[in-house]
Amino acid sequence: MTLCDCPTLLCLSLLFFFSHYSPSLPKMKFQDYEPPSSPKHMIPKVTLLAILVILIFAVTPLWYPLLSYSSHLNINKNIPSSSSSYDQRQEENLPSTYVEKCDIFSGEWVPNPKAPYYTNKTCWAIHEHQNCIKYGRPDSEFMKWRWKPSECELPIFNPFQFLEIVKGKSMAFVGDSVGRNQMQSMICLLSRVEWPIDVSYTTDEYFKRWKYPSYNFTMATFWTPHLVRSKMADSHGPSNTGLFNLYLDEVDEKWTTQIEEFDYIILDGGHWFYRPMVFYEKQKIVGCHYCLLENVPDLTMFYGYRKAFRTAFKAINSLENFKGIVFLRTFAPSHFENGIWNQGGNCVRTKPSRSNETRLEGTNLELYMIQLEEFKKAEKEGRKKGLKLKLLDTTQAMLLRPDGHPSRYGHWPQENVTLYNDCVHWCLPGPIDTWSDFLLEMLKMEGVRSAIS
Ligand SMILES: *[C@@H]1O[C@H](CO)[C@@H](O)[C@H](O)[C@H]1NC(C)=O
Ligand SMILES: *[C@@H]1O[C@H](CO)[C@@H](O)[C@H](O)[C@H]1NC(C)=O
Ligand SMILES: *[C@@H]1O[C@H](CO)[C@@H](O)[C@H](O)[C@H]1NC(C)=O
Ligand SMILES: *[C@@H]1O[C@H](CO)[C@@H](O)[C@H](O)[C@H]1NC(C)=O
Repeated sequence: MTLCDCPTLLCLSLLFFFSHYSPSLPKMKFQDYEPPSSPKHMIPKVTLLAILVILIFAVTPLWYPLLSYSSHLNINKNIPSSSSSYDQRQEENLPSTYVEKCDIFSGEWVPNPKAPYYTNKTCWAIHEHQNCIKYGRPDSEFMKWRWKPSECELPIFNPFQFLEIVKGKSMAFVGDSVGRNQMQSMICLLSRVEWPIDVSYTTDEYFKRWKYPSYNFTMATFWTPHLVRSKMADSHGPSNTGLFNLYLDEVDEKWTTQIEEFDYIILDGGHWFYRPMVFYEKQKIVGCHYCLLENVPDLTMFYGYRKAFRTAFKAINSLENFKGIVFLRTFAPSHFENGIWNQGGNCVRTKPSRSNETRLEGTNLELYMIQLEEFKKAEKEGRKKGLKLKLLDTTQAMLLRPDGHPSRYGHWPQENVTLYNDCVHWCLPGPIDTWSDFLLEMLKMEGVRSAIS
């Protein structure tokens, strides 16, 4: 991150001032800033300008929220990539106590008529099962919301700005298909700037690598739905959805051996822990979750969930050469109503909830609390080694989006798929696009901090 570039900042402030405050200064229109034709008019303008400059230096920090809002309104301007982040780069480096104090994760969904920022026709990266428009989802209002934190604005994702920040860096999505869902959303959002090229090391679709050539930025997905080493023990199992052996104290080397070089890791997990599992520790069965095996105690899904995160964090914290930032993307609740996922539950709402209409409870709350607890411990451990762990705390925002899932529009009606009514993943475009808004805001804050320290 470069330090704040003051001349451009000044210029930006002047532009802003001139274009917004001209009514109070009738003669000082933006056009008047052109080289003056008559020296007679020059003197008062120069004086006024000097006063303005002083004034602006004094009050610019207070304007930050305003500037940030204006940049989000301007997002659709077609700026060439080289100069794209001209104005955004300024605000990215503006130290602002205002934004630091704002909890961007608590707020409401508000209408955004400008969304979506891509469609199933402009973006090829949409996974089949999240291509809701293709499969005939009739309503489109679910795409037209943005997240409004209670105490500040969250700018809409600016792909130019994002790519400037991550230039020469790499980002790994480690977890399940909701993590992949997030990456695909990001590819679609970034497509206004550039498409990535496939640089995968394997033909395995669960381990993909994408590279943005102009920015030397790499994104990768690592499939590890349980985060620890796991094995399908029985493809049917007690609930006919597979029975898995989880080795809770053993890392899943498919990702732990690969991520040391990455600058950012986005870790997620949750939905797979609903299925029947047998837990192993020190290579012995210690218990299970809904395995219905004789003499094996049911320790609940929460036991496995906690231990899996503990092991995953421990693995990251003990990497020799890892210097990156870890984001825990917190659990995004599913929204099955009138039944569970494999017993007729569905999600048919078409509007977001308001925060006073629902709250995190039951299993969702428990999973979320386990994440927070394990995160806090890991964050403390990481800090000792100089590692940064951050919470990408999407849980509350997503709790309010029962309307954002594919439901039965993730496949053709006659298709025989495991998750017929999908109330777990998120339609693209859709509310998961907001995760990029969050992530960019966090990266910007990171930039501010490293510029200060
Ligand atoms: C996009 O959605 C339309 C329906 O609105 C569908 O006809 C088309 O096949 C879809 N295209 C792609 C590339 O998914
Ligand atoms: C691209 O970025 C990687 C780190 O992600 C770095 O090792 C490499 O040298 C960079 N390549 C160029 C051409 O800048
Ligand atoms: C939630 O808040 C909105 C506006 O703030 C209000 O109109 C609505 O009645 C509230 N709903 C409930 C269930 O309290
Ligand atoms: C769907 O597939 C499963 C296994 O692939 C099979 O057991 C089941 O009978 C199929 N159901 C229908 C309605 O075809």
